Amino acid sequence: MSDVKQTEAQGEKIVLITGASSGIGEATARTLVKAGHKVVATARRKERLDALVEELGSDKVLAIAADATDYDQLAKVVEQAVAHHGRLDVAFANAGTGVSQAGTENGDPEEWKRVIDININALLWTAHATLPHLRERKGHFILTSSVAGRANHAGSIYSSSKWFAYGFGQNLAMEMAEWQGRCTTITPGMVNTAFFDEPKPDKLDPQDVADAVLYAISASPRANIREVHLVPTW
Ligand SMILES: NC(=O)c1ccc[n+]([C@@H]2O[C@H](COP(=O)([O-])OP(=O)(O)OC[C@H]3O[C@@H](n4cnc5c(N)ncnc54)[C@H](OP(=O)(O)O)[C@@H]3O)[C@@H](O)[C@H]2O)c1
Repeated sequence: MSDVKQTEAQGEKIVLITGASSGIGEATARTLVKAGHKVVATARRKERLDALVEELGSDKVLAIAADATDYDQLAKVVEQAVAHHGRLDVAFANAGTGVSQAGTENGDPEEWKRVIDININALLWTAHATLPHLRERKGHFILTSSVAGRANHAGSIYSSSKWFAYGFGQNLAMEMAEWQGRCTTITPGMVNTAFFDEPKPDKLDPQDVADAVLYAISASPRANIREVHLVPTW
């Protein structure tokens, strides 16, 4: 039996995670490896990805530093992932950022470009670069939208970018269904990560979102977990 067939038979999935250097992506990498999967971790900060490899093992985590807003860099990450593992089962498009200057009239158009680049364009690049490989595996695309992508927030460009992500996730699910692929949109409420300047210990933990990703990819192939909406209990 080839290596690919053998690990597939054992239920192991090869999962690409963007934004794996911190917060939700980092917690998801840990959780998936502990559950027996292999992770291709990408983000810009190489030293943080290397620390993850050190912690979880180079046989479990392949770290490739890249800026997800650069299509060519991201496409190379996907190429390297597939060359290394021979397949790609799941892509988790999670990299994203917030807006520091609130509102539209008082917002900063230069900052919006950066936010749109990572929250919208990089999401599209991740889908475009991974879909041919996911199709071969009847694979799974997962993305991090937000509770802010399902509710209105006065003048918020961040919320608008997450509305895009939410709508895209629904549309992509329909396209992937044509070949029995699955697509899950995760819409978390506030999570205690570096996304915020101040700690939010009373809100969701990144682990809670990582558990949602594991739930989605562990479901029976006949069940497509289209959305996971999770908010802090208190
Ligand atoms: N925290 C919340 O309350 C919350 C709630 C709902 C949704 N979300 C969403 O959850 C996702 C993850 O955020 P988080 O809360 O885990 O925050 P975080 O800890 O700040 O993580 C953000 C991740 O995105 C990566 N990233 C940012 N710009 C990038 C770029 N140009 N290229 C590649 N990677 C880039 C960062 O890595 P590098 O800096 O190393 O590149 C980092 O790994 C985001 O999409 C966010 O909008 C967060």
